[in-house]
Amino acid sequence: MPSTQLRVATTRRLPEALESRLGEFFDVSLRCSDAPMSRQELIETVKEFDVLVPTLTDRIDSGLIGQAGDQLKLIANYGVGVDHIDVHTARQNGILVSNTPGVLDDDTADMTMALILAVTRRIPEGLEVMKSGNWQGWSPTALLGGRIAGRRLGIIGMGRVGKAVARRAQAFGMQIHYHDRIRLRPVEEEEFKATYWESLDDMVARMDVISVNCPYTPDTFHLMNAHRLKMMKPDSVIVNTSRGEVIDENALTRMLRNNEIAGAGLDVFEHGNEVNQGLTSLSNVVLLPHMGSATNEGRIEMGEKIILNIKTFQDGHRPPNQVVPGML
Ligand code: DGY
Repeated sequence: MPSTQLRVATTRRLPEALESRLGEFFDVSLRCSDAPMSRQELIETVKEFDVLVPTLTDRIDSGLIGQAGDQLKLIANYGVGVDHIDVHTARQNGILVSNTPGVLDDDTADMTMALILAVTRRIPEGLEVMKSGNWQGWSPTALLGGRIAGRRLGIIGMGRVGKAVARRAQAFGMQIHYHDRIRLRPVEEEEFKATYWESLDDMVARMDVISVNCPYTPDTFHLMNAHRLKMMKPDSVIVNTSRGEVIDENALTRMLRNNEIAGAGLDVFEHGNEVNQGLTSLSNVVLLPHMGSATNEGRIEMGEKIILNIKTFQDGHRPPNQVVPGML
């Protein structure tokens, strides 16, 4: 384990205050441009630096890790999700991976609620009317949406974010249901008045709103595939603030187009920023550009986690937020 000051490289522009803080602790090379690094730039960086600070827009696969120099010892991801990093290969090559859990849960849960409300209460359509200057005044029949109080919310993935969603949704009067590999302790189920569904199929078929809050792993790829999406009630909606790959986006688009489900609120997409064109033209969807964690506070706290992880490693210990393969 190292004892001298580590050479750290960031792959994207980070908030200014954070970049200065990184400079106080480490010998840091900051990325001037906000564009993601090219493959060649990433290769050069992993050949030269001790610590890489990537984001979810960098593909840190086995090919890249294989090109890293012996000096690369830590990949301190600026974010929680590590689906873009081959954690297994990194470990085999003696490179630790850390992430930034716990500081984005509230922000992501807030955005989940925002999407649920935006879809069910038709907020974008209302905004559109105002922006067009064509509002004719209040009408008893205009832009009627659905009330969320009393509706059944099915949370897929009852981890930190799922629980933060449950807490909020409960305050909105929703009934909480969830599916996860691991059932909550009775005391937590009691706190959320949550109903556990061992079978995802059974849950999906009975919910008014589905919220995807599980990480993307090989096991959750297309967890909401065409078959499961078809099980949803025709008047139900789905929101996703986790990772796009968990939903079969083409199947979802087809179903939305055919009004087989009532709507969708998506902050993430199966192919990153290449959003299915079929989705953008639909009126029953609300699309956001992966903003779930985009708060000033969250970005700074993510940075503090990065600093703590690298500093702890520099001091000769394991980073507190080390990601262990198989535990995702
Ligand atoms: C994360 O941390 O993985 C988030 O998706 C970033 O917004």
